[in-house]
Amino acid sequence: MILTDEEKACLQGSHGEANRLAVELLVRVGEAFGSERLIPITSAHILGHYGSLHQAGIDFLERLAEGGGQCRVPTTVDPSSVDFGRREQFRVPEDYVEKQKRLQVAVEKLGVIPSWSCTPYFAHNVPRFNQNIAWAESSAVAYANSVIGARTNRTSFGLDICAAITGKIPEFGLYEEQNRKGSILFEVELGAFSDLDYHTLGAIVGRRSGSRIPVIKGIPPDVTNDRLKCLGAGAASAGSVALYHASGITPEAQLKDPFDGTRPEEIFTVSRKDLQDMEDQISTADPNSKVEMVTLGCPLLSIGELKAVFLKMQHRRVKKDIFFWIYLAQETYDLGRALGLVEPLEKAGIWFSTQTCATISSVKVWGFSHVMTNSAKCALVVPSEHNLSITYRDTDGCILTATEPV
Ligand code: F3S
Repeated sequence: MILTDEEKACLQGSHGEANRLAVELLVRVGEAFGSERLIPITSAHILGHYGSLHQAGIDFLERLAEGGGQCRVPTTVDPSSVDFGRREQFRVPEDYVEKQKRLQVAVEKLGVIPSWSCTPYFAHNVPRFNQNIAWAESSAVAYANSVIGARTNRTSFGLDICAAITGKIPEFGLYEEQNRKGSILFEVELGAFSDLDYHTLGAIVGRRSGSRIPVIKGIPPDVTNDRLKCLGAGAASAGSVALYHASGITPEAQLKDPFDGTRPEEIFTVSRKDLQDMEDQISTADPNSKVEMVTLGCPLLSIGELKAVFLKMQHRRVKKDIFFWIYLAQETYDLGRALGLVEPLEKAGIWFSTQTCATISSVKVWGFSHVMTNSAKCALVVPSEHNLSITYRDTDGCILTATEPV
């Protein structure tokens, strides 16, 4: 790679141990991907949850913090594995709390904004079109690339914080214009879309695309950002989609032909039957077994989604023999409280949890075997993390299962 004088000096340790290590790691990854240079970034979003990073993650972040590392660009962090304010309510094991605490201390010492949210694009870290950023968290990456038109690969743990500290990332993959064009076309013929359809369509797109860039035709022009968030999360978890173009909706598809004059390698028509088939595949639980926990908020619930739950919950309460947990960012919870949405739901028996989620927290300690969710990502990822089976339903179905009339 061709390095600047400053980068060469960093490699010699002139800017401290954390910077030396960070540049070394960026250069090694860059060389492995055939990158010629490091490019500046304007923001980073890193992973910091013990549930996936384990001891190796703690060691690495502490080493950078002790080496004097400081984020040079605005940097947010994905959800934690512990909601510290509710650790007893959610029965989080003591050792889990201690490990996550160490990660939190290291992250804050490094100058990361302690957002603990997988939707940084709604608060604290909002990139602009065409900006190069270095984000981890597959659903956030899909949103940033697709809906905003910023540029990032699915930055892995380790590389994310090194990019934050140096303000640089090796140029390869989605940072390069020629790698952002579509190669597979999805023609969606559904008529009216429900909320669940966006999650399910995402799962279909992700599974069929693999690592190719999908172009989706047929999404209604008035689609909300919440729905695009769910579409991207489903696509990113069912495949390795980091960027999708939605014709007439996402910015790059509005500015030019997303296939850049080439023909799609494959054209796939998505019908209502395809959605039903995918819903059936995602649900793995025996329909005769009892649902023990219902969860919403993957990606973390937005204020609009919280209000929708509030309206559907009028004159209903959570059944005595089931748990109903909702995950959302702290600022969404606070705003919901200020708007009078949270207290009635808590009184009705819903448990809120902030700064974490079902997938990356210690849900395993509850010993559930059957969970219901309205999220394709949660349904696809949680079973392997927590060894349980899933029923996948829309928000109405989840609420009807978890609650009864007052
Ligand atoms: Fe976010 Fe957790 Fe889902 S980090 S996207 S709520 S798995």
